[in-house]
Amino acid sequence: MEGSPVETDNTTGIKQDRVMANEEWIMKWEQKNIAFHEKQVHRLLEKYLDTLLNHRDKLRIFFPLCGKAIDMKWLADMGHSITGVDISETGLKEFFADQNVSYIEEQVPEIPGAKVFKSLSGNISLYCCSIYDFPRIAVKFDGIWDRGGLVAVNPCDRKRYANILLSLMEKECRYLLVTVSYDPKLHSGPPFYVSDTELDKLFGIFCSLKCLGKVDAFREDQRKWGLDYFYEVIYLLTQKSNLC
Ligand SMILES: C[S@@+](CC[C@H](N)C(=O)[O-])C[C@H]1O[C@@H](n2cnc3c(N)ncnc32)[C@H](O)[C@@H]1O
Repeated sequence: MEGSPVETDNTTGIKQDRVMANEEWIMKWEQKNIAFHEKQVHRLLEKYLDTLLNHRDKLRIFFPLCGKAIDMKWLADMGHSITGVDISETGLKEFFADQNVSYIEEQVPEIPGAKVFKSLSGNISLYCCSIYDFPRIAVKFDGIWDRGGLVAVNPCDRKRYANILLSLMEKECRYLLVTVSYDPKLHSGPPFYVSDTELDKLFGIFCSLKCLGKVDAFREDQRKWGLDYFYEVIYLLTQKSNLC
């Protein structure tokens, strides 16, 4: 299990003490308990694609905690090279099976026990390891699509996660971050609620953050959690230009 078990969000006074072990995520995949998976390209990615690309082509795009998001195939088909990380081998293998993409499996010398699944065309590489081990692979990215990443990590691990994402950003990197907005007194997560104040604490020293918009994502699951509203909120993070 990553990090210490209890974290309090001082901005809301809400104790976020739910801690998910890696094994619980792996079990979710085994049991097909993956309501978070979207069967279509995410509508916020479609809407803000131009913001992510910013007139650039052949980008290196990172998907932290990627699951089997079909957005990876969508962007790969546009000519971008995709790198994803997930702890679940089942999820990653399902991605290739669902998308009908052939792949090879390799060990990762830098991370003992990790594997990488690479499409034969070489434009999709999905690492099966903890995101906290991934920095041992010395790479940087031109773009990041983070939907279901930051909001899935345990609140006590957020700072470490944010620092990793910051370290993976190329100077001109555009990081699209999707968070969730709901009444955190009614549901303890995941997905975890992350306030604007906290986002600023996590990323604000190095990045400019701009809220681009939000969409209503309230469904049956959220009603069962006892919520009466649930939005996905998208931010653009770019490195502050005055950094050396
Ligand atoms: C909410 S799902 C989001 C998946 C995907 N981004 C999407 O939008 O469908 C969170 C994913 O994070 C993975 N995960 C959780 N903790 C992880 C960790 N420490 N390192 C790597 N992957 C992790 C889980 O296996 C799961 O697939």
